[in-house]
This record gives sequence, C-alpha cells and structure tokens, in this order.
Amino acid sequence: MTTENSILVTGGAGYIGSHTCKRLAESGYTPITFDNLSYGHRHAVKWGPLEVGDLTDAGRLDAVMKQYKPQAVIHFAAYSLVGESVRDPGKYYGNNVGGTLSLLNAMNANGVDKIVFSSTCATYGIPSEVPIRETTPQRPVNPYGHSKLAVEQMLADFDTAHDLRHVALRYFNACGADRDGEIGEEHEPETHLIPRILQSMTGHGPGFAIFGEDYPTPDGTCIRDYIHVEDLAQGHLLALRYLMAGGQSEQLNLGTGHGYSVRQIVDAVETVTGQKVDYDIGPRRAGDPPELTADTSKAKQVLGFETRVSDIETIVANAWTFHQSVINRN
Ligand SMILES: NC(=O)c1ccc[n+]([C@@H]2O[C@H](COP(=O)([O-])OP(=O)(O)OC[C@H]3O[C@@H](n4cnc5c(N)ncnc54)[C@H](O)[C@@H]3O)[C@@H](O)[C@H]2O)c1
Repeated sequence: MTTENSILVTGGAGYIGSHTCKRLAESGYTPITFDNLSYGHRHAVKWGPLEVGDLTDAGRLDAVMKQYKPQAVIHFAAYSLVGESVRDPGKYYGNNVGGTLSLLNAMNANGVDKIVFSSTCATYGIPSEVPIRETTPQRPVNPYGHSKLAVEQMLADFDTAHDLRHVALRYFNACGADRDGEIGEEHEPETHLIPRILQSMTGHGPGFAIFGEDYPTPDGTCIRDYIHVEDLAQGHLLALRYLMAGGQSEQLNLGTGHGYSVRQIVDAVETVTGQKVDYDIGPRRAGDPPELTADTSKAKQVLGFETRVSDIETIVANAWTFHQSVINRN
C-alpha cells in the first residue's frame, strides 16, 4: 500500500470523519482511518484502509504511524454526548484528553507535525456575545466542552515546545448527509435535532420534544447555526492545505453565520418531507443558551472557507434521503 499522501484520520468511521475521508480521497489524499468502532461504522470507511485501534493504545498508534508515515493527522475521535459527560466526566477526560495526549506523543515520536482538530462551539459555553467570535471568552459549562478546551490548550503547548502546528476547528451544529447518499449521520444514541425529528416521524426513535419555548428568541425556541457536513469536510481539506503550505496554528469557527430556531427546523422538515411533525413541549435543558451562531469571518480570511450547501432545505433533504436508506437497509 502506498503511503504517499497519507493522512491519518482518527474517528474516520464516524459521522464527520467519514465525510471528510471522502473529500480527502476526491482531492488525491489517502485517508487512513484509525477508529476503535465504539461509535463508528465499518461500512462508513470506503475511501482508504481502516486500522482498528484505540487512541489510548500507544503501541498500536505508533505501529500505524510507522506503517503509513502520514503527512498530517485529522483528529475527530472523541466522545461527544454532553449529558453523559456530566454523569461520567472521567470517561470524557480519559478519552478526549488522554487519547489526544497519546496521539500527540505518537506524532512527536514519528515526526508528524501537523494536526487538524475537531473542537466545538461548546467551548464557548453560554457565550457573552453572538455571533460568537474566536476571541469570545471560552467558558464551557460541561465536561465535554472542558475536555475539548483542554485539548486546545494542549495543542498550543505542543506548538510552543515541539513546533507541532494545528488548526482547531470549532464546529457549530453538524448536520445533513452526503449528497450522493453513500454515508450520513448514524449516531447511536442519536441526540442531534434533525435526525431525532426524522426518526420520530418514521417510528425509528422515541417521540420528539422541544426543550423550552420560553427563550428570549422570536419564537421562543433555541437558535443554532446548522452547517452541512459536506461543508465541514471541505473546511478540513482547506485547513489541511493551509498547514501543508506552512500555515501557523489557528483556531477557527466553522458555521454559516445564520441561525435557525427549533421551530424553523420543524417547519423545514415538514416542507421538505410533506409530512406533519408531531412533538411535545418539554422543559428547558440545563446549560442550553438561547442562541449560538458563529462569526465566520476568520475562517473565510484564513482558509478562504465559505459554505456551499448549508441551506436548510438541502440539509434536511439529504438527511431525509439518508434516513430512508438506513430504514431500507435494516
Ligand atoms: N456532530 C457535531 O455536531 C459536532 C459538533 C462539534 C464538534 N464535534 C466533534 O467532532 C468530532 C466528530 O464528531 P461526530 O459527530 O462525527 O462523532 P462520531 O461519534 O460519529 O465519530 C467519532 C468517532 O471516533 C471514534 N472514537 C472515539 N473514541 C475513540 C478512541 N479512543 N480511539 C479510536 N476511535 C475512537 C468513534 O468510534 C467514532 O467513529 C468529535 O470530536 C466531536 O466532539 C461534533
């Protein structure tokens, strides 16, 4: 197997990782997926080899690095269930922080000095301003967000000490599915809004509830910034090229800059599917800010990043097509 143009993709069997592997392969790279399949899917790894392994297994990571000699790492592998992180913080620090430390040590030992990291808007917690800029204070409100912020700090320290360059991409709400229908969002359990609505409509998940309708927003429901997973994948490719061209470490928001309320998403689902969405109204969830939207100007300036397919109709239509294909597959 040729190792030329290899990129190690941790978590490449997961949702955003698999879409990024497809984009990398389209651009001439060979994505090497390193995944323990705890949440990922073997069937989502189609554009390069799958190396099953755990980030915390230093020997396995070292062997894979030696075999493929990757030019860079794109690091998706993490746990990301906010509620679980509150109940079991050790699991999150162990995997997200401990696993990343193991990865950075293996990179150092093998002379791999570029990494694109999946950070999150959860590092901003309840933000002091919207739209959120990269300079908005990062004050996470749960262990998941804390674990991601700790990694950002670790990356800064490895840059200072070892010239290991990084781009930390702070995603807002990833959604949608591959427009060719090859892959999509298959979290288990599913906590994200659009697939939760679709699953409830087809009886393939629990009933759907809106958490709170008394927020200080125009229709009382929370506003979020929804970015199509294909646009996120493109953002990773641009970040990789930026580092390959000698770019310095950066932290960048990846969103659209435009927010939709939960009710607007429900409306979009009804329009796209032609079906009625039934839902209950539940209480607010602790730690849910009324609005999270990104200021996207820095990603545009540094990477030339612009969203192309993140209009809400395309997002919902692609998610709906994929959801139906999963039902037919099972
Ligand atoms: N989905 C979103 O909206 C969103 C938003 C912000 C940030 N993120 C971050 O983006 C990344 C990818 O998210 P996703 O939605 O694709 O998640 P995902 O669960 O679909 O993918 C994560 C992958 O990492 C693997 N993994 C976890 N721990 C591992 C370990 N120790 N060793 C090897 N593999 C391991 C899992 O098996 C899975 O395939 C995560 O780091 C997440 O925190 C996601």
